[in-house]
Amino acid sequence: MTTGQHQLIEKLVPDSIKKLIPYQSARRIARGMKNTENHVWLNANELEVCCQYGDEKEGGNSHYNRYPDYLPTDLAFAYWDYCKQAQPVMADSAEIMAVRGADEAIDLLVRTFCKPGNDQILVCPPTYGMYEFCADSMGVKTAVVPLTAEFQLNLIDIKKQLAETSIVFLCSPNNPTGNVLAQQDLVDLLECTKDEALVVVDEAYIEFAPQSTVLHLMSQYPHLVVIRTLSKAFGLAAIRIGFLIGDQSVMSYVSRLVAPYPIADPSAEIALKALSPTGRQQMAQQTSELIEIRDWFMGEVSQLPMVEKVFPSSTNFVLIRFKGSENFYQYLLNHGVVARSPAQEATVKGCVRISIGSAESMTKTLDVLKQY
Ligand SMILES: Cc1ncc(COP(=O)(O)O)c(C=O)c1O
Repeated sequence: MTTGQHQLIEKLVPDSIKKLIPYQSARRIARGMKNTENHVWLNANELEVCCQYGDEKEGGNSHYNRYPDYLPTDLAFAYWDYCKQAQPVMADSAEIMAVRGADEAIDLLVRTFCKPGNDQILVCPPTYGMYEFCADSMGVKTAVVPLTAEFQLNLIDIKKQLAETSIVFLCSPNNPTGNVLAQQDLVDLLECTKDEALVVVDEAYIEFAPQSTVLHLMSQYPHLVVIRTLSKAFGLAAIRIGFLIGDQSVMSYVSRLVAPYPIADPSAEIALKALSPTGRQQMAQQTSELIEIRDWFMGEVSQLPMVEKVFPSSTNFVLIRFKGSENFYQYLLNHGVVARSPAQEATVKGCVRISIGSAESMTKTLDVLKQY
């Protein structure tokens, strides 16, 4: 860790977090202990002898009687390996933590690095709403510097806010605009935040634009933190697995606040299958199929008379601006298509965000729009 990074982290972490002694969960105690094969584990009020619920043919549940690992290392290793495949230059001091979805990663970062009633985060809307929501829920202020008309960073106005800011939350590819933030802007921002703030890049949609990742910048900028998830391209939203990737200096504080057993065993088992070589191949295949459907849908929609603009997408959704005053979100809903009306920032007024589903669902959506 550089002296500068050390000073930044010490400046950002509230005293209450510095004093915090992590909860000694059943599995955290076992870390570092050797020759434990013959130990009798009676430290966590678990049921050692447990019945099989339901039909035994369905698989039973006997191996779920013990609390899971407090931070499943096999999952972190598997994700590290997955990252390295796409991005061989990973910072030596980077650590990966599996959490309950990217949303938990956002929540943990605000709780670890912002003092309620005192600190502020910075967001660049239109963007994912959970950054501001988490800050609001903890009494942390949010500075708002909207993206430019091209949905890029307004670096001049961001820089004006940095002295007061603890975390800059960015999203690339961005939700709901669907575009990637310019890498040079991210580098410029990382340069001028070195002594000021953490820069968090939420890469929830990275598999749809893998070349845009900022992971390789972490060795040069240890105040960069990356958030990932299995909810999008991997198609595993229900198992609630996300990842936090950051310098050891960042992660050592975050791990003090993480829940005692964040990842349920069945979720970890499914995630490990998805991150295996076969799982990764399946994900890559379904991603390219989805991109094909997306590009076909975008082409068709852009020809409809009531469509003003279909914004380019590096994600599994598309943002569409409609002409006139008709509420097309409501129109679609009335006809059985549930889309999303993004928060009404000026740049996305009159827009509807539509996730890319199966070819069948997109054909139905197109038909509904054609009937208008
Ligand atoms: C940009 C972004 N980050 C995070 C999330 C939440 O991801 P998870 O399901 O891993 O909590 C979403 C979900 O829509 C998202 O769009």
